[in-house]
Amino acid sequence: MSNSDFGLIGLAVMGQNLVLNVESRGFQVSVFNRTTSVTEEFVAAHPDKKLVGAKTLEEFVQSLASPRKVMIMVKAGGPVDAVIESLIPLLDQGDIIIDGGNSLYTDTERRDKWLGDLGFRFIGAGVSGGEEGARKGPSIMPGGPASTWDVMRPIFESIAAKVDGEPCVTHIGPGGAGHYVKMIHNGIEYGDMQLICEAYNIFKAAGFEPKELAEVFTDWNEGDLESYLIQITSKIFAQKDPATGKPLVDLILDTAGQKGTGKWTIMNAVENTVVISTINAAVEARILSSMKDQRVAASKVLEGPKPEIDAKKKKLVKKVHDALFASKIISYAQGLDLIATMGKEKGWGLDLGKIAAIWRGGCIIRARFLNHITEAYRSNPELGNLMLAPYFTDLLNDFQENWREVISMATLAGIPVPAFSASLGYYDSYRSAVLPANLLQAQRDFFGAHTYERVDKPRGEMFHTDWPEVIG
Ligand code: 6PG
Repeated sequence: MSNSDFGLIGLAVMGQNLVLNVESRGFQVSVFNRTTSVTEEFVAAHPDKKLVGAKTLEEFVQSLASPRKVMIMVKAGGPVDAVIESLIPLLDQGDIIIDGGNSLYTDTERRDKWLGDLGFRFIGAGVSGGEEGARKGPSIMPGGPASTWDVMRPIFESIAAKVDGEPCVTHIGPGGAGHYVKMIHNGIEYGDMQLICEAYNIFKAAGFEPKELAEVFTDWNEGDLESYLIQITSKIFAQKDPATGKPLVDLILDTAGQKGTGKWTIMNAVENTVVISTINAAVEARILSSMKDQRVAASKVLEGPKPEIDAKKKKLVKKVHDALFASKIISYAQGLDLIATMGKEKGWGLDLGKIAAIWRGGCIIRARFLNHITEAYRSNPELGNLMLAPYFTDLLNDFQENWREVISMATLAGIPVPAFSASLGYYDSYRSAVLPANLLQAQRDFFGAHTYERVDKPRGEMFHTDWPEVIG
């Protein structure tokens, strides 16, 4: 019987939870997984739900009402193409395929064209929120034709997280725009996580125990730093290892993994000549963390001060709060700058206010301060840099002294704070009316006759000097 409203292929954790979410909103859902036993077990585990478990792809496709809406939740890359290829002979023109994985946006653009040429409709949708978000309401970033969005809208809006009654989903733009914005979301996620880790490292050097840190982060989560990542960090600090009774965080090896979205973000920033130094630092910090053996060896020969910070705990908490918040603002300013630049380059017509609004709930970077970002772009869609929105200018002016102090303290104690420092470096460069690039231009002209402009002549007029010869 062809009466399922929605179909999903790929019953890993995210897929299963999305299915349960869609079903819970009153839709009948068909499911298919390459390993049939996974499908059978999943359907059997939810006997009271309107689920149709298909043993074959043919059966799956036949169980869907027209136009068919098929969401693919498999590993990004080759597996997505493989599923699409096997679907093509079974689907009819006008059917909709949605890729809900963390696909590279250029792959999405290719698939958009490929499927569009064949008469199918394709949506590349970023889905954020992990397992819990998928089940209760994720933030969804769909890209593709606006007319396809119109068809998908009721389902997407009903399953997405809600903030003040507004669903955390919007049509991002055509082609790969949705997966692109999800990629930058992940870059920002990397930045947020690294900044929190740097705050933790400073606190550790000042003698804070995980138990105290659980309290600090719980307090922060009740204030202007309120966010999902701060909240889960407080819970992580409170977690004991059942085997040893010790704080679990102390037993976890300090080498971070990454699947690639952070790396893609910085590659795209370089292509667009946009500075995202905080996100760069976060990606590189993960790379350095993974070089555990080299670090252990180097720690025995390369000297530095003892990583100890002597400070009154209460005062330090406030200072680190300000440093963290200021750096976080920079990270978002950079990520949003990249989205705006790329959006213009591609003619995607992106609305930064809407993007910030759908990040307020459901996703990993959801945070109270996204309300202010939303407001900043809603009141000035042409806002050049987030730092220049009055609310954020005031905060940065307020935080900058403590921010400098925290970075100085950490640096003097030999504690690495690459993302805090990169953020402050960006802030100081951006607010400098004069930078030392005059010397750089002289150097370029010296060895390569690249010419330079002069401060006492109109812009655009180029000069060259016959510099003295250098012998040897
Ligand atoms: C989300 C997450 C999710 C996942 C990423 C990041 O928005 O729900 O970003 O997509 O955590 O895959 O993973 P890595 O840290 O492994 O790169």
